[in-house]
Amino acid sequence: MRILGIETSCDETAAAVVEDRRVLSSVVLSQAVHSDFGGVVPEIASREHIKAIVPIVGSALDEAGTGLEAVDRVAVTVGPGLIGSLIVGVAFAKSLCFATGKPLLGVDHIESHVAANYVAFGEIPEPFLCLVISGGHTHLFIVEAPLSMKLVGSTLDDAAGEAFDKVARMLGLRYPGGPEIEREALGGDPRAIDFPRPVLQEGYDFSFSGLKTAVKYFVDRHQGEVSPGLRADIAASFQQAVADVLVEKTLRAARNLDVRSVSAVGGVASNSFIRGQLAHGAAAVGLKTLLPPPDLCTDNAVMVAMTGLLHVASGRTSDPSISPYSTMSYPRA
Ligand code: KG4
Ligand code: ZN
Repeated sequence: MRILGIETSCDETAAAVVEDRRVLSSVVLSQAVHSDFGGVVPEIASREHIKAIVPIVGSALDEAGTGLEAVDRVAVTVGPGLIGSLIVGVAFAKSLCFATGKPLLGVDHIESHVAANYVAFGEIPEPFLCLVISGGHTHLFIVEAPLSMKLVGSTLDDAAGEAFDKVARMLGLRYPGGPEIEREALGGDPRAIDFPRPVLQEGYDFSFSGLKTAVKYFVDRHQGEVSPGLRADIAASFQQAVADVLVEKTLRAARNLDVRSVSAVGGVASNSFIRGQLAHGAAAVGLKTLLPPPDLCTDNAVMVAMTGLLHVASGRTSDPSISPYSTMSYPRA
C-alpha cells in the first residue's frame, strides 16, 4: 500500500510518500516569511501554501521515484489547524483524487503527530502515554491502540509552543521561538531564576500563561535592558520550568495509570533539553521513552501518510466531500 501524504495545517507545506510503513520520501517547506511578524499570519500562510503545494507534492513523488498513478491513496490533514491553510491542502488532495479516481483519506493532525511513533518505532506495545506539544496544542493522551487515544490532560490556556514563541518575542528573538530559546538557553543557567511551575501538583492539565506573564514582569522590571547573559539565564530558566511541568505530570500520569512507556511529539518535542529531561526522569523510575527524531516531531507529511495507512488497516474511510475543521475535542480517559 503506497500512500501520498499532504500536510498544510499551519506554516509548513509538506508532502511524503510511505509504502507499507517504509518512508520513500519526505519534503517539508517551512514558511520563513512569518519570522518578520513574530508569529504565523494566517492569510499569508494560505497564500504561501498555494504557491508551494504543486512543487512540494511533485518533489515528494520524484524523490520517491513514483508517479501519481502508482500511489494507492492520498492522505491529507483535515484539521485541527488554520482553516485557510487546511483548505489549500484538502482542496488539492480532493482534486488529485477526483482526477485519478484514488480514494481520499482525511486525517486528524493530532492523531498524525501521535502516529510519528509508529514511523519511528514500528509496532509499539500499547498502552503508552503521549504528550503532543506543539504551537497550537498541549495534550497528554493515553494511546490504547493505533488511532485509539483518550485525553488525560490538556492546556487550560496557552499551548507549550505558543509560550516558547511569546517568550522569545519578549526577549527580542525571532519566530519560531522554540529553537531560538533552546539556542539561547545553552549559554544560561536553568536555576538562575525561579519562575513559577503553574498547577504542578494538581491533576494532569497544564497552564503556561502564568509562567509567560512571570517572564514578562521579569523582563519589564529590567526596563528592556536585558544583557546577553541575563537573556540566556531567562531562556534557560523558562525552558527548565516548562520541562519540569511536562515531565512531572507525564510521569505522575504513567504511575497512576500504570503505563510503562512515555512519548513526546510535536514541535516542542524536538527540543533537546526537554527530550533529555523526559528521558532522564522516565529512566529514573524504570519507564521506557519513545521520542521520534526531531524531523518527525515538527510538522511533516510522513506522519500524515502513516496515519492514512492506519486508517486503511482499521477499515476507516473518508467521505470525498470532507471539510476542514479548525478545532477538535478528543474523548477523555
Ligand atoms: O508541531 P509544530 O511544528 O506545528 C504545530 O502543529 O503547531 O510545532 C510548532 C511549535 C512552535 O511553537 C515552535 O516554536 C515550537 O513548536 N518548537 C520548539 C522547538 N522547535 C519548534 N519549541 C521548543 N524547542 C524547539 N527546539
Ligand atoms: Zn503540528
